[in-house]
Amino acid sequence: MMSHSVVSVRVPAKLNLDLSVGPVRPDGFHELATVYQALSLFDELEVSERGDGRGLRLSVGGRETAGVPTGPDNLAWRAAELAAEAYGRVPDLSITIDKGIPVAGGMAGGSADAAGVLRACAQLWDPSGEAEPELGDLAARLGSDVPFALLGGTAVGSGRGETVTSAMGSGKFHWVLALSEGQLSTPAVYRKLDEIRGSGATPRPAVRPEVLLAVRSGDAHALGRALRNDLQPAACSLMPVLEMLLALGPEHGALGALVSGSGPTCAFLVADQDSALELAVALSASGLCRAVRRAVGPVPGASVVD
Ligand code: C5P
Repeated sequence: MMSHSVVSVRVPAKLNLDLSVGPVRPDGFHELATVYQALSLFDELEVSERGDGRGLRLSVGGRETAGVPTGPDNLAWRAAELAAEAYGRVPDLSITIDKGIPVAGGMAGGSADAAGVLRACAQLWDPSGEAEPELGDLAARLGSDVPFALLGGTAVGSGRGETVTSAMGSGKFHWVLALSEGQLSTPAVYRKLDEIRGSGATPRPAVRPEVLLAVRSGDAHALGRALRNDLQPAACSLMPVLEMLLALGPEHGALGALVSGSGPTCAFLVADQDSALELAVALSASGLCRAVRRAVGPVPGASVVD
């Protein structure tokens, strides 16, 4: 029996520290200016060559797997097909995903898995990096958040989110994440924002200098004040409980709070681990969310694990 290579990859969740949403483009996407941060909630992937010519097999396990597809509807599946095409291979792979990133929560778990598969395929099929199809380009074809999941750290995103540039930063930020009951559809949240905005002209999106300054100096108090998400009013309008959940932050020591991406996860910035624990207990006791997680950021993007 032939032995086949196995690659393990770890990929982080993302949070948008600033999400400025501009006008709708002709392709239906919104022009964005955003500051991403990768948080220490991880999906772990194992990708191996099957060697039996039977194609792709995807299995999903871990803390939360409800509703995660195990076929072509999963972005990780499409990532494997795209990588195979780019490297001139047959996608004869077994992919196992252990999910630690909240599913459908606005933390880009699906995008993370796609980025993880791209990283794993590069390791399997081009370990010396000679063939080098641009992973970032492949990632951008898969989804707006996939390039950032490869990059990690803290980064500025533009275009529809897919053009990413690392931002300078210092220190670690402590986060508490409240996982909401139910789900919000990303296209529906964007549509709601358009509806709230009405027919007036929408300014071009821009990230706020305060956010980048706070990240650079590692100043959690300044970052707490500067957090912003243009999608938040739309997410809260579709799911009013989010408003109540966010209000608990300042009452229990949070330096800032916002909806993560298109939601419905809410993210709270706190000063340190003790504050994180205190807030986590209060959020759990509130009965307004189904689970609470603690995380730090920034952390690296999709990485091969030895
Ligand atoms: O790129 P991604 O597949 O994550 O986008 C999901 C949906 O979110 C898009 O189909 C679109 O409705 C909305 N979206 C948008 N503008 C963006 C990113 C996403 O309108 N910049």
